[in-house]
Formats: sequence, structure tokens, C-alpha cells
Amino acid sequence: MLRLIKPSMEYKQQYLEAIREFQREGRHMDKDVNRLNADFVTFLARLEAQKDRRNLSPDAVPSTDFWLIEGQEFIGRLALRHELNAFLLKVGGHIGYEIRPSRRCQGYGKRMLRLGLDEARKLGLQRALVTCDEGNIGSKKIIEANGGQFENASTVEGSSIRKLRYWIDLNTIKDIRDNIL
Ligand SMILES: CC(C)(COP(=O)(O)OP(=O)(O)OC[C@H]1O[C@@H](n2cnc3c(N)ncnc32)[C@H](O)[C@@H]1OP(=O)(O)O)[C@@H](O)C(=O)NCCC(=O)NCCS
Repeated sequence: MLRLIKPSMEYKQQYLEAIREFQREGRHMDKDVNRLNADFVTFLARLEAQKDRRNLSPDAVPSTDFWLIEGQEFIGRLALRHELNAFLLKVGGHIGYEIRPSRRCQGYGKRMLRLGLDEARKLGLQRALVTCDEGNIGSKKIIEANGGQFENASTVEGSSIRKLRYWIDLNTIKDIRDNIL
């Protein structure tokens, strides 16, 4: 069964292996796998702390990290921001996600966003903003398959990248459940 879980020690080795995969494509370069391996407890505690505004700087918003698991395998991660600040409203949105490279193009991205929208609704959000780079065809398809209504494109300051901004009404997502999960 495909599910989103709270990050846990149980999947430590698989998470680290996934980070190595991401790093081979130039992502997560800020992460030191050896250090994570040595002190995964602190890493998990840091993720947990991000949920609580009291642990954050004034410009940051609380967020929850989820890991996508199928059977006993780590597939990807999703970050759910509990609210939007000016930057997230323009560029980042409520939800960010990534599928580990070895598991892409197997439908997991679509299904992970679907599960993430359920979590957003549980959090009390009425609608979620989800964005993607204009050229990110996979992510664009994922958002549109999940009922994303295109609002506009915004530009990132100091970059030529255009972000496509979509809103998803969380009161209607039940209607598209059968198509995706
Ligand atoms: C974008 C990403 C999440 C897609 O995950 P995925 O599991 O491969 O997505 P899915 O398998 O659900 O694919 C959804 C659709 O996009 C298509 N697709 C996926 N990757 C694609 C690519 N690189 N180029 C073109 N189409 C692609 C799939 O074929 C599928 O098309 P369909 O609906 O016609 O069948 C994944 O490539 C990733 O993690 N990328 C790096 C991080 C990232 O870009 N995150 C999104 C930030 S907004």
C-alpha cells in the first residue's frame, strides 16, 4: 500500500540511498550523507521541529515533511507548508515534492501529490497552491491531474525561471481520488 509517513529511523538507510541518487543529479548537495548517517536522530528532530513556529525564524512558516513509502520502500518526499508567506505565495506554494530518480515515471508523483492534498485538507486548508517550473513537464502533469486550476506564471527574482501557479480546491479532491489512487 502506498502511504505517506512521518520521517522515521526505520527508513534511514533507504533515505540515505535516495539522497545519494538525488546527489548524482545535483540535488540535495547541501546534505552530507556521512554526517546524516552518523547522527540521523538529530536530522529527524530538526524535521520535527519545523512543524512548530516557535522553532523558526520570523520569515519561515511551519511545515511538515512526509516520506512516500510503498511496501517497505522509500519512494519520495513531500513538504507541506502550513501557510504561505510572500515568497511562497508568489513562487513556492504550499506543497513541494520529489520522487527518487530510480522510481520516476511510474505514477508515484501523481499519487504522492494526491496523498499530500489529503494531508493539507486534514490540516484545515481549504485550497492549496502548488507551483512548478514552466519547463517541468512531469510536475505540470501531476498538478493538472490533481485538479490544479492555473492562475498565472510568476518570475523568480534574479532568475529567468517562470513558475506556473495552480490552486487546488481541497473540498473537491475526493472527486478525483479514483482516477489517481
Ligand atoms: C517531477 C517529478 C516529481 C515527477 O515524478 P514522477 O513520479 O516521475 O511523476 P509521474 O510518474 O506521476 O508522472 C506524471 C506524468 O508526467 C510525465 N513525466 C514525468 N517525468 C517527466 C519528464 N521528465 N518529462 C516529461 N514527462 C514526464 C509522466 O510520463 C506522466 O505522464 P502521463 O500523465 O501522461 O502519464 C520527479 O521527476 C522529480 O522528483 N523531479 C525532481 C524534483 C521536482 O521537479 N519536483 C517538483 C517540484 S514542483
